[in-house]
Amino acid sequence: MQKVRKAVFPLAGHGTRFLPMTKSSPKEMLPIIDKPVVQYVVEEAVESGIRQIVMVTGRGKRAIEDHFDISYELEDVLRKKNKLDILAELQRIASLSEITYIRQKEALGLGHAVLCSEMVVGNEPFAVALGDEILYGPKSGLAQLLEVYEELQAPVIGLQRVPRSEVSHYGIVDGTPVRDGLFRVDRLVEKPKAQDAPSDYAIIGRYILTPDVYGILGTQKPGVGGEIQLTDALNTLARLRPVYAMEIQGDRFDTGDKMGFLKATVHFALKRGDLSEEFRTFLQGVLAQGSLNPESEIPGETVYANR
Ligand code: UTP
Repeated sequence: MQKVRKAVFPLAGHGTRFLPMTKSSPKEMLPIIDKPVVQYVVEEAVESGIRQIVMVTGRGKRAIEDHFDISYELEDVLRKKNKLDILAELQRIASLSEITYIRQKEALGLGHAVLCSEMVVGNEPFAVALGDEILYGPKSGLAQLLEVYEELQAPVIGLQRVPRSEVSHYGIVDGTPVRDGLFRVDRLVEKPKAQDAPSDYAIIGRYILTPDVYGILGTQKPGVGGEIQLTDALNTLARLRPVYAMEIQGDRFDTGDKMGFLKATVHFALKRGDLSEEFRTFLQGVLAQGSLNPESEIPGETVYANR
């Protein structure tokens, strides 16, 4: 059996849901407290035993490379100031994983971003993790999928249940139950209307794939939104061989979405020993009062209110 050693992180999207912030900064570098979103995802991959990460980036994403690189100058400053704790943390981040970077020159879709990783991944199974989705739970999300991959020796797609009102934002699985929370995929339906959705199991940003998906992606025509969709390729794959989909346990935060980002920030702040007490008191005060300062407006507020 071939072990899954590599994970592909597609990071080349435009992040239009988070404009204007994402005009010049990657959404994956948004901080959840003091750590960029993508670091949470790297740590999840490392925890699941992944040894090499292939980051597919694009223009304006250099900050991601710098974050995982060594910074001699900064390290020197920290050493001189005797800030050894944070120095050790920076060194830990730079040594988290072997990372290879590839550029997707044009954002032609998630499927195309995955295809860009073919030369580095080669002929072996690999994980895919979206760099703007944080999973939080007792066990790493990718580790949960890897267990099923090792058992079934077939591609496994990560799922979570979503409210019926939200199925139109996701790829939805139509599958035959194998056991609790595990399905053999019959078909994947991209962004169905609530009344047409075959289930409420949505594809989230974690996959274990086999290299035969590259051949499919290489010849695939653009789908929804004119993009090369990974979901379309997985539909083709599911007609050629068994493909499974599994419910991942844990909380999920889509930080590429404003509400998801806010929820993640509050969630992690309330979990952090150094912040939780004061932050909880602050939140309780704000909620009791209604608003911090009812008279004042956020600059540009009328623009946002109309979105
Ligand atoms: P999304 O649709 O969530 O990302 O793509 P986006 O396009 O960046 O964001 P919005 O919707 O405009 O706000 C899912 C994932 O696929 C990556 C994105 O970076 C994200 O992690 N992606 C998407 C690519 O790497 N390349 C692409 O061409 C498209």
